Amino acid sequence: MTDCRTLAGTDLLQWRRQQLARGGAAADLDWLIDLAGGVSWASLQRLLLDPSRTVAMVQSLDVLSEFWQRHLHDNVPLQHLVGLCPWRDLLLESSPAALIPRQETELLVDLALTHFQAAPPSRWADLGTGSGAIAVSLALAWPTASGHGVDLSPDALSLAKRNFQRCAPNHNCSLHLGSWWKPLKSWWGILDVVISNPPYIPSSVVHGLEAVVRDHEPHLSLSGGEDGLDAIRIVVNGAPTGLAPGGVLLLEHHHDQSSLVMQLMRDAGLVEVSAATDLEGTRRFAVARNPFAMSS
Ligand SMILES: C[S@@+](CC[C@H](N)C(=O)[O-])C[C@H]1O[C@@H](n2cnc3c(N)ncnc32)[C@H](O)[C@@H]1O
Repeated sequence: MTDCRTLAGTDLLQWRRQQLARGGAAADLDWLIDLAGGVSWASLQRLLLDPSRTVAMVQSLDVLSEFWQRHLHDNVPLQHLVGLCPWRDLLLESSPAALIPRQETELLVDLALTHFQAAPPSRWADLGTGSGAIAVSLALAWPTASGHGVDLSPDALSLAKRNFQRCAPNHNCSLHLGSWWKPLKSWWGILDVVISNPPYIPSSVVHGLEAVVRDHEPHLSLSGGEDGLDAIRIVVNGAPTGLAPGGVLLLEHHHDQSSLVMQLMRDAGLVEVSAATDLEGTRRFAVARNPFAMSS
């Protein structure tokens, strides 16, 4: 971050027109002007109405031009160039170490919070925590609960740790390196809620993803094997042992996996299986409960 510099509004607007002539979407460029330049979307709209204003920028236009160039020509995600990603009410650090948290995953957190509206859980876990986006949100929402974040990638876990330090420094969440349920063996049977956005894209689809995703986000975050369900099967099949009796499992999945994931949940013996939709009405989430133990 450089010193704040004042710029004539007309200079910023002329620069913006020049950059858009090079290519790309106005919404993305305006995101860059906001996150890297420090000129909010609302200030930019005011400037478009009244170009005689001045603006205070926290980064030079030369640096922003370089970012835009790398985004257009090398497909580098803007979040990686700026090192930040706004998500829910958080401003997370973003890097190639982990998936850039997606908008639909905000709904997965909303689902979990709605489920426990009456009373927060005592213990929760986020399997495949990546940047820590979900875990940080849950730790802030449920300050009295103890949380666990698990990931197989040491680099992702380091990023999650930094995101806890910047967004939830007094968090109650431990981060564990390892595969899905395995590092949580000491807590098997007492987790009230487990949430996961696992890699679920079928491997054949991964190859056809946009370059900005395929070439810059970790494959460990994307590929769910041949049918996309490798990780989901492990998470679902571990739930009857890992969850507390009555504990809840919430999963995000691909747009065409709803029936299969719900069937996997039923086959594993989970009950109250249901689907939830994203903002476009597509079933992207599955929720189920571990049965309560039968009284003898
Ligand atoms: C789709 S990303 C989700 C990241 C983050 N939770 C989010 O929603 O933005 C899936 C995550 O699962 C992790 N992962 C992949 N295989 C794993 C495994 N065997 N055990 C634990 N985590 C794994 C990846 O490293 C990645 O961080």
